[in-house]
Amino acid sequence: MLSPWLAPFWSGATSLVLLSLCNDAMGRPFYMRWSDKTYGPDGPWNAVTIGVGNPGQEIDLYPGSTWESRVFLPSICSNKSISSTCYARDAGIFHPEFSSTFENESISLGPNGEWGPGQFGAADAVGTTVEADRALIEVDLAGTLIPDVDFITISQGYQTYPGGGNYPLQVGILALGAPDINQTFSRGSSDPLNGTFIASYLWKYADVGISSYSWGMHIGSAAHKIEGSLILGGYDKNRVIGNVSAQPYSGPHFPIELLDIELGVADGESPWDGPGKSRLLAQGNSSLSSGITVKASPADPYLYLPESTCDALASELPVTYQPDYGLYFWDESDPRYLRIVTSPSYLDFTFNKDGVNTEKISIKVPFALLNLTLDAPLVEESVRYFPCMRTTGTYALGRAFLQAAFMGVNYIDQDNGNWFLAQAPGPGYSVTPRTTTITDTDSTIAGSNNGWAESWADYWTPLSGSVDKPQDSNGDSDVKSDGKSDDSSDGLSTGAKAGIGIGCGVAGLLIIGLMVWAVSRRQGRKANIPVEAKSINLPHPYRQVVPAQLSAHTPIYELASSQKEGPYEI
Ligand SMILES: *[C@@H]1O[C@H](CO)[C@@H](O)[C@H](O)[C@H]1NC(C)=O
Ligand SMILES: *[C@@H]1O[C@H](CO)[C@@H](O)[C@H](O)[C@H]1NC(C)=O
Ligand SMILES: *[C@@H]1O[C@H](CO)[C@@H](O)[C@H](O)[C@H]1NC(C)=O
Ligand SMILES: *[C@@H]1O[C@H](CO)[C@@H](O)[C@H](O)[C@H]1NC(C)=O
Ligand SMILES: *[C@@H]1O[C@H](CO)[C@@H](O)[C@H](O)[C@H]1NC(C)=O
Ligand SMILES: *[C@@H]1O[C@H](CO)[C@@H](O)[C@H](O)[C@H]1NC(C)=O
Ligand SMILES: *[C@@H]1O[C@H](CO)[C@@H](O)[C@H](O)[C@H]1NC(C)=O
Repeated sequence: MLSPWLAPFWSGATSLVLLSLCNDAMGRPFYMRWSDKTYGPDGPWNAVTIGVGNPGQEIDLYPGSTWESRVFLPSICSNKSISSTCYARDAGIFHPEFSSTFENESISLGPNGEWGPGQFGAADAVGTTVEADRALIEVDLAGTLIPDVDFITISQGYQTYPGGGNYPLQVGILALGAPDINQTFSRGSSDPLNGTFIASYLWKYADVGISSYSWGMHIGSAAHKIEGSLILGGYDKNRVIGNVSAQPYSGPHFPIELLDIELGVADGESPWDGPGKSRLLAQGNSSLSSGITVKASPADPYLYLPESTCDALASELPVTYQPDYGLYFWDESDPRYLRIVTSPSYLDFTFNKDGVNTEKISIKVPFALLNLTLDAPLVEESVRYFPCMRTTGTYALGRAFLQAAFMGVNYIDQDNGNWFLAQAPGPGYSVTPRTTTITDTDSTIAGSNNGWAESWADYWTPLSGSVDKPQDSNGDSDVKSDGKSDDSSDGLSTGAKAGIGIGCGVAGLLIIGLMVWAVSRRQGRKANIPVEAKSINLPHPYRQVVPAQLSAHTPIYELASSQKEGPYEI
């Protein structure tokens, strides 16, 4: 865990020279690396791996939050009254004493080592109480070093579920940015201290520049082997199906109006009476009939909705409410359970599109993704649960929802950007990314014409009464289908793709250079196709090539700064 992070595909000065050529050429999107391990206790969920400190200590974190990232300190394991097992160790704990870069002495802004509430995401239905401190810590992204990243270090903590039980914390969170470039902490007469964010630093200060202060993510599904995708300065168009809704963020939050939740079936017979059911959001509570504001929250696990809504959904499912957890457990002995979680049935969330009430967008979450598991320490024996959590607090859609949705953000001028929401594909997704650059003026992004039902067709079983889709005998192997309907629109030949796949060697570099030139020439002629024309296919994330070192502590730009305090509340 403490070993320095060595990226294996290059070494020495030669690569550095080649790579700086490679990167100078294009401000190209930057891939985050996903962990081989998956985590609970309410998943399984995918997580990203980063190096924390110098040398980088490998730690897995749930990505996608704003402002401060959160890591655990070794003392998290010492409080045996919370748990005798240290669950936080699985994903990794940060040891400040082994890092040469760790600044925590002079930040006067709270929490200052005191106990207080420390929610990880937007939701508040599960209380999180932590003893925490601020720190600026270097982050190592497979060789790309980001100095002074804004962290909260947690020395003690626990979560309190609706029934009153306290449970240990398990996996920290990774913030990618905020509607500011830095978090600046005043220090009396000394220079203010500047905490950075990963995406803002890569955009503004790093040699390996990305073209905008933005990111695009599909967390995927650990249970259904959909790998996570997280790209800074761009996104994978194959993870965006159909229309994209772009709406303003609000400080650290990603709010959107949720108009309704329906039950539907993509193919075959319905497990319910009739083809589906609508108006479930407001069923039994007409005050919800004009919709509610929900926040997309990758740092939280569940769907946090009004009690009446969760109960309306639950009344259509073989589940029972568990007051200790505020969640519903599936009744696996009920024959409807398998009919629902293995068939093309889904929850359909309808939102206002683009922040206007004249257009709508719908995101379908198959029940196959809602057969999630509660594990120790939340329960003694694993159980399957349905992730609707009743709340009278903040309504939010966490990872359970984001398994099926793409989300991203572009912090244009920090205050004027939008965040993006779209349908993501199922397990038959195209594993080769169609990496697409987000520029620093893009207020929306383009989706693909890939089919959603097709990306699930080999992985669900329509209920009889319909014509069965032929099952692909390779359906369960790791060979996923590639190249869906409009894949060729990126205009790269197979040969070019293969060339890139070799890696960013000399040949690869030449090809990339030629491609960039060709694409930018094409783009010049097609002025009205903003995002599509900028697409280029890049190698697999793990083959992402990055420089070994950056002169990371040398500021490249000096900008006027204001005293900014983050959203951490104590
Ligand atoms: C241990 O955890 C409990 C909550 O279960 C908390 O009240 C207590 O303050 C913690 N002890 C220490 C030493 O942090
Ligand atoms: C800074 O971190 C060290 C090591 O974890 C800790 O002992 C110390 O109390 C921290 N200082 C402050 C001011 O929080
Ligand atoms: C933080 O940024 C401000 C504005 O760019 C600069 O004046 C100040 O020196 C920086 N602080 C440090 C410690 O680098
Ligand atoms: C995308 O939006 C357009 C215009 O609102 C609409 O006609 C089209 O049906 C939508 N496509 C999908 C896949 O929802
Ligand atoms: C009914 O909706 C209101 C919001 O309009 C909410 O405050 C209340 O908690 C809901 N009631 C139930 C039982 O969910
Ligand atoms: C439900 O989830 C559990 C745990 O991931 C898995 O073992 C089981 O096969 C799933 N059931 C179905 C029908 O997908
Ligand atoms: C942001 O932080 C970096 C690194 O500490 C620093 O070089 C830069 O001057 C800061 N910029 C602003 C605008 O505060």
